[in-house]
Amino acid sequence: MPSYPPAPDRRSLLKLLAAAPAASALGGLAATAPAHAVPAQTARASGAVASGAVASGIVKSLPSEWFTVRGTNAEARFDSFADTGLLTPADRFFVRNHTSTPVLDASDWRLTLWGDGLHGRSPVHFTYGQLRDLPSVTRTALIECAGNGRSLYTSQQGEPVTGTSWTLGAVGAARWRGVRLSDVLRRAGIAHDAVALQPRGLDDPYVSGGVDYGRVRRPLPVAKAFDDVILAYEMNGEPLPYDHGHPVRLVVPSWVGIASIKWLGDIEVSARPLTSPWSTDWYRLFGPAHPSGGSDPITVQTIKSAYELPFGATLEADRVHRLTGRAWSAHAPVRSVEVSTDGGTHWRRARLLDTPRRDGWVRWTVPWRPHRTGPVTLLSRTTDAAGNTQPERAVHNTQGYLFGAVVRHPVTVA
Ligand code: MTE
Repeated sequence: MPSYPPAPDRRSLLKLLAAAPAASALGGLAATAPAHAVPAQTARASGAVASGAVASGIVKSLPSEWFTVRGTNAEARFDSFADTGLLTPADRFFVRNHTSTPVLDASDWRLTLWGDGLHGRSPVHFTYGQLRDLPSVTRTALIECAGNGRSLYTSQQGEPVTGTSWTLGAVGAARWRGVRLSDVLRRAGIAHDAVALQPRGLDDPYVSGGVDYGRVRRPLPVAKAFDDVILAYEMNGEPLPYDHGHPVRLVVPSWVGIASIKWLGDIEVSARPLTSPWSTDWYRLFGPAHPSGGSDPITVQTIKSAYELPFGATLEADRVHRLTGRAWSAHAPVRSVEVSTDGGTHWRRARLLDTPRRDGWVRWTVPWRPHRTGPVTLLSRTTDAAGNTQPERAVHNTQGYLFGAVVRHPVTVA
């Protein structure tokens, strides 16, 4: 059975378990709690896992040329994607953790499905080996945080928002291999009247402002689950890394990243609609432009493009620069990308370097020879095959989700 290197050996784990708070029981489902759940900090301190520039609770190394640490999260530097291909290597992939990465062992992990939406109504378990024995599927999909680009509401539109101040690097593309969630649901005996699922992670409960919100979980409609959701155990051809959900996570293509629950432990299957704080308090749109009491829980991500250049980069005058970037849309494949190198007065088409596909991004390039020295604003604007185009302004919401407007990218010509 594959295990992700550098897996802590059993002796280290026993030591770690003695030092670490045990993974708490899953509210009536203690049997599904992993025997080997070790918070990342403890694992790192013992030398059992790789060290590096650290964010609290993240296992992998976070070199500053690739990442900006934001609290418990690590944002990828978008400019650093310039030397990556269509897939984001796992060691360059952003990490969004509500708490910290649990170091789980595939050999004693199991998934439990339970609830009144199952025939027979008793819980059904799958071991890691049983999942690996089911027919596998492989697909490329982006994972993008709902709040990617959030800081631009403030820096570009002058509007206040709450939450992690992501710039544009809370997104990455990977090739995921796993099993269809629909196959697992059928095998577990999903009933005809089941309407909602609630996948839940095995990371520690999320506590904020003195309130314990429980483990990270968010309702997922049965219709989406049967469409294209997978239980992934591989990322870019390797077992899932600890920080990205080892041993098994959900991948919910085209939806906001919160739907793709990592370190999956159990899934409630329900004949009634379900809620959690991740569908009532967060991941909905609040503010004057939205229904009072908030929008429905957000689902599909938005449309974006970005230059693979640092904000504030200096470019030499009277030289041809090959500007590069990426464009993506959760609604449809990208159709075209236009760029402006004069603050939005003139626009021209960028050359697309990849065949546009749904749930992926395309790389684009455009030559630029600046003559005048001084500050310049670069812009890029994606249009997708469904006719969506990035607008000049994104519709504000208080938690800063779904920023899809054209980004004004400052550079200096010297
Ligand atoms: N799943 C669990 N169990 N715990 C989490 O904190 N974060 C979610 C989602 N799944 C999260 C989770 C959010 S908000 C995002 S954007 C994605 O995981 C990020 O996935 P990544 O860290 O692999 O990039």
